[in-house]
Amino acid sequence: MDNIEFAVIGGTGLTEIEGMEIIHREVVHTPHGSPSGQFTHGMIGDKRIVFVARHGYAHNIPPHKVNYRANIWALRSLGVSKVVAIAAVGGITDKMKPRALVIPDQIIDYTSGRDHTFFEEGLSSVTHVDFSQPYTDELRQHLLNAAKKTDLELVDGGTYGATQGPRLETAAEISRMERDGCDLVGMTGMPEAGLARELGLSYACCAVVANWAAGKGDEEAISMDDIYQNLDNSMVNVRELLKTLAC
Ligand code: HPA
Repeated sequence: MDNIEFAVIGGTGLTEIEGMEIIHREVVHTPHGSPSGQFTHGMIGDKRIVFVARHGYAHNIPPHKVNYRANIWALRSLGVSKVVAIAAVGGITDKMKPRALVIPDQIIDYTSGRDHTFFEEGLSSVTHVDFSQPYTDELRQHLLNAAKKTDLELVDGGTYGATQGPRLETAAEISRMERDGCDLVGMTGMPEAGLARELGLSYACCAVVANWAAGKGDEEAISMDDIYQNLDNSMVNVRELLKTLAC
């Protein structure tokens, strides 16, 4: 059987890839506990893909309870070398409008208390990884090129601020994040990206802007209905992007 071309970690709004021909589903056990669900092996065209829904297929695992270590460990054990993470986010800066698709290039981590490293027990020596560029540029470029082929508009670059959730942020928290240099806010970008780096996987994110972040839109409050509506609309483009990436 051919090698797996890439893995997709689906975020809110993406619990399956339409157009992927499913071959089989696999339960993977890891030393770090259970992943978010079974891994779906399938084909897009003649390329092998593997998919997992980060929040579970029933969308019942909140961002701070996702077992990021198990998901990333399992992907590597399946022989995956490239991971495309799909993530719903709020938009902070002007270009990050609801329904935009963004390929971020930096991260600021505001999460806490998550199992965020593989390098903490049974080590023969203390281990650090370089994380200056948290996303793999080659994979980012593949995504950007795939979008060009299908005339899909992607925003190239942006800083993803990863928050703890599951509540959304206050307007003051978003103002602070903007001063820090964040363009986007989401709850799942870390420790996922860091763990992928620790295991030597290529990792890039396609962020789907679901709403203006707190205090950035015209409305006093963020509407969950609007979030789901925007995600629903944008996922058509995400599926197209993944299809083109596989071809
Ligand atoms: N904040 C954090 N995570 C999110 C948001 C947000 O506004 N929208 C979608 N995911």
